[in-house]
Amino acid sequence: MDNNAIIEKIIALKEEKDAIILAHNYQEGVVQDVADLIGDSLELSRAADSLDGSVIVFCGVDFMAETAAILSPQKIVLLPAHDAGCPMAEMVTAEEIRSARTRFPDAAVVAYVNTTAEVKAECDICCTSANAVKVVNSLPEDQVLFVPDRNLARYVARFTKKQVIPWEGYCIVHDLITVEDVALAKQRYPGAEVIVHPECRPEVIDDADYVYSTSGMIRHVCEGKKPAYIIGTEIGILYRMQKECPGKSCYPLSNRAVCSNMKKTKLSLVLQSLENLAPRVTVPGDIASRARNAIERMLAVT
Ligand code: 13P
Ligand code: SF4
Repeated sequence: MDNNAIIEKIIALKEEKDAIILAHNYQEGVVQDVADLIGDSLELSRAADSLDGSVIVFCGVDFMAETAAILSPQKIVLLPAHDAGCPMAEMVTAEEIRSARTRFPDAAVVAYVNTTAEVKAECDICCTSANAVKVVNSLPEDQVLFVPDRNLARYVARFTKKQVIPWEGYCIVHDLITVEDVALAKQRYPGAEVIVHPECRPEVIDDADYVYSTSGMIRHVCEGKKPAYIIGTEIGILYRMQKECPGKSCYPLSNRAVCSNMKKTKLSLVLQSLENLAPRVTVPGDIASRARNAIERMLAVT
């Protein structure tokens, strides 16, 4: 079946099954094009919480679909690429959080949304790259254990008086970006503004002009006055940027910044998931209700 035929079937099935398709900014262009909403982790969480529909098809990675299932337990949540995980989310476990709490009894535990439901259930509050600073500064505690992304933790530490204790996790895609990549890109595209994601290393952030979540980057480029931008995040974002920000030239900071998990969602898998209402993502009730507290506390802050 060619893509046009698949798209037609997806549109018909979406109607028939009362489904909405959510896609992360890193998804392949053909997948973004069938989505009802494309966004960063925060926008997709809000959408999962507020949009109508009986079925959510989540084109992203598993922690995102889990968050949707936690916020909308009455809906069927589908993850077309059942094995699309986030390696960073596996870098901290619920057991490790319980043990860390005994070492840091006065610290609030902040979980980046890139974590498992079990980890969220052990934390005080969640955050995304779009609201991490605001979330940390909203807390009454003076000490914060920030899991699992050490780079985001160190970025947040620049904007708070609180003591931020970073966990030793990282994104295998963003952590690969180096200051040499920045220097090379600046040489190749003189005058272009450099925008990076806060999952990048601190020294890369130092060399950038701006730091944003994925949707923040798109807004910045669309509204910006400069004609050219160097984008330091997963390269899938360039599809939406070029489509939605006409007249702007956007270049990847590193062509190696590819998240293979985000690329597992294929149009044919989206169709299959709608046909079979599978693979489903569910979270056990007790874990879901504790994780929901942490996510809802975050949504109330921003
Ligand atoms: P955003 O929330 O900024 O879209 O980031 C999600 C992510 O996985 C980045 O690697
Ligand atoms: Fe996880 Fe990094 Fe992929 Fe985002 S880009 S889903 S943090 S591995």
